[in-house]
Amino acid sequence: MKLGFVGAGRVGATSAFTCLLNLDVEEIALVDIAEDLAVGEAMDLTHAAAGVDKYPKIVGGSDYSLLKGSDVIVVTAGLARKPGMTRLDLANKNAGIIRDVAKKIMEASPESKIIVVTNPMDVMTYIMWKETGKPRNEVFGMGNMLDSQRLKATLFAQGARNIRKAWIIGEHGDSMFIMWSQADFDGEVDREKTLEQVRFVAAEVIKRKGATIYGPAVAIYRMVNAIVNDTKEEIPTSVILQGEYGIEDVSVGVPAIIGSGGVEKVVEYDLPEEELNALRNSASILKERLRELGY
Ligand code: 2OP
Repeated sequence: MKLGFVGAGRVGATSAFTCLLNLDVEEIALVDIAEDLAVGEAMDLTHAAAGVDKYPKIVGGSDYSLLKGSDVIVVTAGLARKPGMTRLDLANKNAGIIRDVAKKIMEASPESKIIVVTNPMDVMTYIMWKETGKPRNEVFGMGNMLDSQRLKATLFAQGARNIRKAWIIGEHGDSMFIMWSQADFDGEVDREKTLEQVRFVAAEVIKRKGATIYGPAVAIYRMVNAIVNDTKEEIPTSVILQGEYGIEDVSVGVPAIIGSGGVEKVVEYDLPEEELNALRNSASILKERLRELGY
């Protein structure tokens, strides 16, 4: 089993590390325009693996041909928002990067499943799907899994226990919302406070440590695991919708069954009107952003 990573920054490298420790990986390839960074991370990961008696082939570099034959490619390449940069500036810059990455992945490893992480993630997932021309089950985005991890932590901190299901869906951004209708845990929580905390907690982490790293790394690992071990578990995922929930031609977070086929199914719950409207609101915000970018 081979994993590819486009972007060897902190999220890319830490998700490679998490996958390396937790999965039976035969090969890992890290590609980054910063060649030394990719090579150095590959070396460091090789040394980490030997510590737990694992000896996969781990390579790094700037050449996309390293990705050839990857089962899954995780894309974290792109800029993070800098002070003074508008959301649209970031989206424009990263759209250019994603277009270039899409073309190079299709040349090097057209069969791979692609998990998009680069922000604004839902928008970048759509662009990746469009530019690769791949079927939607093979190109999808990680965001709501991470949001849902934050939700679970917030619920637990308020005394909730046995959290069996707690999903955030919608945009991986300000319009995200909690799918309360399907949530399943023991205990009572303050719903308004919970949503506020989950929406803004990433910004607080970024303010304090400069970036979010471990949360995204584990969310990526969970999605990679579902694919390579064909778990067919339900994971909230940014998927190009084609009529589900009455939404079309946009990538937005919905519960999906993830297995060896990638997104094997979009799970369509009979949502109460309030949640359905929230999902459609996220979809229309994302469509507007795509339109601003010429899609
Ligand atoms: C996160 O939610 C910044 O999208 C990133 O951690």
